[in-house]
Amino acid sequence: MCGIVGYYGPENPKDVILGGLKSLEYRGYDSAGVAILNHGEFKRVRAEGKLSTLQKKLEHEAFDGHLGIGHTRWATHGAPVEKNAHPHTVRGISLVHNGIIENYLELKEELGPQAQFTSDTDSELVAHLIAGEIESTHDLLASVLRVLPRLQGAYSILVVSKDHPDEMVAFKNGPPLIVGSAKGAVLVASDVQAILPYTKKVVYLNDLEIAHIKGESFEIYDSRGQALKKVVTTIDWTAEQAQKEGYEHFMLKEIFEQPRAVARALAPHVDVAKHTTNILENTGLAERFHGIDRIAIIACGTSFYAGQVGAYLIEKLAGITVTTDIASEFRYRDPVLSKNTLAVLISQSGETADTLAVLRQLKRLDVPVLSLCNVKNSTIDRESDGHLYMNAGPEVGVASTKAFTSTLAVLHLVAVGIARSRGRLSALDEERYIRALLAAPAQMETVLACDKFFSEAATTLKSYRGFLYMGRGVNYPIALEGALKLKELAYMHAEGYAAGEMKHGPLALIDARMAVVMLAPSDGLYEKTLSNLEEAKARGGVIISIGTFGNEKLRDLSAHYLALPRAEWSVNPLLEAIPLQLLAYHVAHALGHDVDQPRNLAKSVTVE
Ligand code: F6R
Repeated sequence: MCGIVGYYGPENPKDVILGGLKSLEYRGYDSAGVAILNHGEFKRVRAEGKLSTLQKKLEHEAFDGHLGIGHTRWATHGAPVEKNAHPHTVRGISLVHNGIIENYLELKEELGPQAQFTSDTDSELVAHLIAGEIESTHDLLASVLRVLPRLQGAYSILVVSKDHPDEMVAFKNGPPLIVGSAKGAVLVASDVQAILPYTKKVVYLNDLEIAHIKGESFEIYDSRGQALKKVVTTIDWTAEQAQKEGYEHFMLKEIFEQPRAVARALAPHVDVAKHTTNILENTGLAERFHGIDRIAIIACGTSFYAGQVGAYLIEKLAGITVTTDIASEFRYRDPVLSKNTLAVLISQSGETADTLAVLRQLKRLDVPVLSLCNVKNSTIDRESDGHLYMNAGPEVGVASTKAFTSTLAVLHLVAVGIARSRGRLSALDEERYIRALLAAPAQMETVLACDKFFSEAATTLKSYRGFLYMGRGVNYPIALEGALKLKELAYMHAEGYAAGEMKHGPLALIDARMAVVMLAPSDGLYEKTLSNLEEAKARGGVIISIGTFGNEKLRDLSAHYLALPRAEWSVNPLLEAIPLQLLAYHVAHALGHDVDQPRNLAKSVTVE
């Protein structure tokens, strides 16, 4: 979604803001702009399309001021054209906005026909409202305090005024905003990435809080204008972690980082000498696990598929009912939950609007919530009762990869932890599963060698009419995830199916132009999966199979065969995810698509 950067300080604001916007590119956007002080006025430069176009426009622009704001816009109200790009300027007020103002039409009507609009956005309306207030208050903060109660929706806004040239005011209800101070400087941004090169100490704004930056200091207020004392958080990511490090794309770098990411995900929860896990104690909710009769896992997209793998693992190992729900469905379906339910919300960004709405709904229902996030201190992390982390480091590619496999590793430990606490797993079995998990990073390293295979096969694979991904049991959600990756990156039709469902419909799709990706590791369901594979082959499907090392039969039946190292059934999903990510990456690349920023998609989905 949109990116926001604001800067006051001794450095050239143009460079700081452009650098910040660049680090937020991964969020997805279709236009960009800045407004920077020059001769006491905010000079605004905006451009449709990529940041490089804005950069070109700014090449010969000089600014003598020390304050400015910038924005990358992901269109919601109005087409992605220059007139709708931010900042929006109305009578000396310039602002950037992320999110949606829901009562926009109503407020626009109240302003009457004399208000001249130059864009089709809801954002410009807020600039009109603040410009109207400042005429009587002559005070930027006071004007925001008057406008705030009138706005409905999910938004984060950063506003400046030409009559207050050393001030910025940031406020939010929904999408994240953070403020950080460095030597003689203050930065405001929608994401830590933009601030990391300058400072690691940041303050997270909560909903309906307002940051008032004046010169090199800032204060935070509540919506009634009462000053608040806020906690300063130290970020433990480095600016370097968010760089490409020689890889052609962030996504490829992040795919290759997975062995390390999974090792980092496991590390805080495993005693490597004893082969035991203390993960339940680390959640801060250990006592709540006793007496629960149901776990409800809720998430969106890739995080949802990781949750589905978790459900198979927890049910099988711990013998407890686990339901999985897509957050956007759950929030509107009046769920019936027993008081012994524990909810597990999964979100890499920790900001996904639907998942956040579910969190608040569950809190109203008094259901304890354990969150599993990658971004520490994100809204979902902050508002949950218990906390686990993916520990994957910053994930910049829009398509989630290392956060997914890190989630699988953490959920596997949760399954082992619950199983042990319920007396369903012997110490020997706990040791067996933990050993298998600890071996996974090294096995994942070896699987990464299939990169070469897919980079060569991509030219053939890209010409298929469509892809069907199939798997059974714990491999089934991996089939769903594989299909999602191909859809979002290669823009090709792909579907994930439970292999046993094939004869109930999708078999009709199969012909020589349909690729069938079969996840067939040597586990308890292998024979069943094999017969599904033979059914597909008999109908002329082109079989790409992923099995366990040494399976010559599978090799003979397949047009393309990839062998995974021999692993515990529960660890296979960690290994299978890698070839499916690489398949999608290379096919998309061969088709000439922007792999890191697929069209129409955003990294952090902060609107419904
Ligand atoms: C796909 C992808 C998305 C996200 C989804 C939820 O590659 O990344 O499907 O998984 O938007 O995002 P989070 O995990 O941030 O809640």
